[in-house]
Amino acid sequence: MATTMDDLLEGLNEDLAHEYQSVITYQLFATLCTGPFRNEIREFFRKEVPDELSHAEFLADKIVALGGTPTSQPGPVTLTRENREMFEIALQAEKDAIERYEERVRQAEELSLTGLKVQLEDLIVDETNHKEEMEMILRNWKGS
Ligand SMILES: [Fe+2]
Ligand SMILES: [Fe+2]
Repeated sequence: MATTMDDLLEGLNEDLAHEYQSVITYQLFATLCTGPFRNEIREFFRKEVPDELSHAEFLADKIVALGGTPTSQPGPVTLTRENREMFEIALQAEKDAIERYEERVRQAEELSLTGLKVQLEDLIVDETNHKEEMEMILRNWKGS
């Protein structure tokens, strides 16, 4: 079935909910991390927050520009007090975000929204960088 503007708006709102979710998750991971590397882990998650917030802002603005209403509800937040699990949760979230934006690129293309398509590709660049950061931190992780 052909993609409609409603499909795209629904998808962008799903993306927005997940960006809010990332903002809350990373902000709380920065608070909940413990151990000898707490300060580094805290800084790492703190610096992700403005990136995810800027994605949320972009999506909300775009939803309004396209005639929709931006959601105020974040996706479900999964928390942990284990440092390693924080990075595993974050890695999965970044992979899921990339997949969603790839789907959104296809929808934007189908609707001939070239500007949006290119902007969504920029989000894929950001999320890919995040994903690779998480992967490198998890690589050869020793201890908990
Ligand atoms: Fe994001
Ligand atoms: Fe991200």
